[in-house]
Amino acid sequence: MTRRGAIRAVCLGLALLLCLAPHPVIAGMSYDQLVEPTDDGMTEEEREARREAIERDRQAAEERRRAQEDQARVEREAQEADDASRPYPERLTEQRCMTCHAANDFDKEQRSWPGWAFTVWRMELAYGADLEAGEWRVISDHLAEEHAAPPVRAAAVWAALGMGPMVTVALIWFIRHRRRNAP
Ligand code: HEC
Repeated sequence: MTRRGAIRAVCLGLALLLCLAPHPVIAGMSYDQLVEPTDDGMTEEEREARREAIERDRQAAEERRRAQEDQARVEREAQEADDASRPYPERLTEQRCMTCHAANDFDKEQRSWPGWAFTVWRMELAYGADLEAGEWRVISDHLAEEHAAPPVRAAAVWAALGMGPMVTVALIWFIRHRRRNAP
């Protein structure tokens, strides 16, 4: 055999193997599992009983399917009613945050707007909370309204935030001033 002939033979063999590989019998199934049960050797009554059993199975499956459809419809309608009755920010917060949190997770939280905005931002950054553009603000506004910090604390937070830049400016001025006056 030439070298080419040998290569051809190997390729053919591989192709044959590939054709056979998915064959059910090679896959370890027995012929009994593959062939339809025949009704050879059954009496007429047995055949009738079998037909009835098959029909019963079919009807049961049909009923299950219908029950599932009904259930899905009821759930969809409840969801739609819920959507219509509750404001968008509330639903959005639930959609975006309740994938990881329980509904009552934030009940005890009281934060000012910057606190919530920072939390929502942190959830997005650290855990990949799936927010689209603009939703960060909607959710922060909603939470700051529903779970607001007591006014005194909120005022303190805002004051601290306002002080930040002022302190920075003052610090820069102070350092430069000292440098200029250094001997
Ligand atoms: C992908 C999962 C995930 C999503 C989505 C998510 N969180 Fe979280 N969140 C966490 C985990 C984990 C912690 C606990 C660890 C921590 O605090 O960093 C946490 C903690 C918190 C806490 C308590 C800690 C803190 O910062 O005081 C708050 C409040 C919170 N999440 C709010 C939210 C809000 C609001 C949203 C919706 C915008 C949200 N989370 C969406 C995973 C998630």
